This record gives sequence, C-alpha cells and structure tokens, in this order.
Amino acid sequence: MEARSGGLPAFFGRVRRAGATTSLDTNDDPEGRWLGLDEVLAVTDVLLPNAAEALAIAAAGAVVSPARDVPGADALERAVEALAGLGPLPVVKNGAAGTLSWADGGLVHVGAPPADPVDTVGAGDSFNAGLLAARLRGLTLRASMRVAAACGSLSTRAAGGTAAQPGWDEVHFP
Ligand SMILES: Nc1ncnc2c1ncn2[C@@H]1O[C@H](COP(=O)(O)OP(=O)(O)O)[C@@H](O)[C@H]1O
Ligand SMILES: [Mg+2]
Repeated sequence: MEARSGGLPAFFGRVRRAGATTSLDTNDDPEGRWLGLDEVLAVTDVLLPNAAEALAIAAAGAVVSPARDVPGADALERAVEALAGLGPLPVVKNGAAGTLSWADGGLVHVGAPPADPVDTVGAGDSFNAGLLAARLRGLTLRASMRVAAACGSLSTRAAGGTAAQPGWDEVHFP
C-alpha cells in the first residue's frame, strides 16, 4: 500500500513515457481506504484485481462516477463497469467462475477451465502473467482472458507458487 501511494504513480508515468504499458494487481487493502489509488489508476493500462478487491475499490469511492444501474447486472458486473470508467482496462479474477472485463460498452466473461485445486498460492500471479503474455503477443481481449484463466486454473495443480505454472503451449491453442 505504501509503495502504491508513494512512488508508483511517478514510476508508471516514466514507464509510459518510455513507450511501455503498465499493469497493476492491487492486492487487498484490509483497511479499505485504497489511498492514492486514483493517482495510480490515471497511469495504469490494465487493472488486475480479484472479485473481492474489485468490489471494494468500486465501493470505496476511488470510483469517480457511479456505475449505471443496469437491470439484471449483479454487483460484480457493475463494479467491473465502474472500474472501466476510471480509465484502465479491468480484468477481474473471479476464481472458479472465470474472469470478467469490459469492452466496447459491454461485459466480457470467460469461464475458468475446471480445476481440482491442490494449492492456490500464486494462482493470481499466474493469471496476471498469462493475461499480459497474451496481450503482448497481440491476442484479442477475450483470447487473452482465456489464456489467463487457464494459467490461473493450472497453477493450482501443485503446491507452491510456480511449480505448476503452465507454459505457453499448454494454454494457447491457435
Ligand atoms: N477452484 C478454482 N478453479 C479454477 N481456477 C481457480 C480456482 N481457484 C483459484 N483459481 C485461479 O486462481 C486465481 C486466484 O486469484 P486471486 O484471487 O487474485 O488469488 P491470489 O491473489 O491469492 O493468488 C483465480 O482467479 C483463478 O484464475
Ligand atoms: Mg490476487
């Protein structure tokens, strides 16, 4: 949290000026204050919270405009839309239920391949790595979300954060 509200916005700004894109997995803010998050989001291209974090960020007022009240949309869908309104592309991890994003004014949902988790440590990081690897290879948002969800699911196959991380050929089928 200190790094986020301290030097991170300036660092992300430098990264962007150098021609790269930026991505952020917030992790949780147990105090629910999300201090400084709005400054970081202003220079973030891809925002990668999990569902609980997405709901908390949207509820904490880091969100500038309240999401539209879309009939039938659940709280998480509204939070994803609200996060998209802040600027970055939100790609939200929703465990066994897959992943949610927002593009062209609509929700994008991709399911997770079934998993019988042994250990979920590092699964969110594997998800993030898969999403970014796919985008850097020029895959569409939906295809990138499929790669990410596969990376997250497969990462739970074994104990530890990296032992079961899949390789590219295991998660991408052209
Ligand atoms: N039962 C499950 N089935 C499929 N994927 C899972 C399951 N549990 C966890 N995952 C994967 O792990 C990710 C967890 O990410 P996150 O909630 O950020 O956890 P952490 O930050 O603790 O790694 C999920 O979004 C999903 O990709
Ligand atoms: Mg996480």
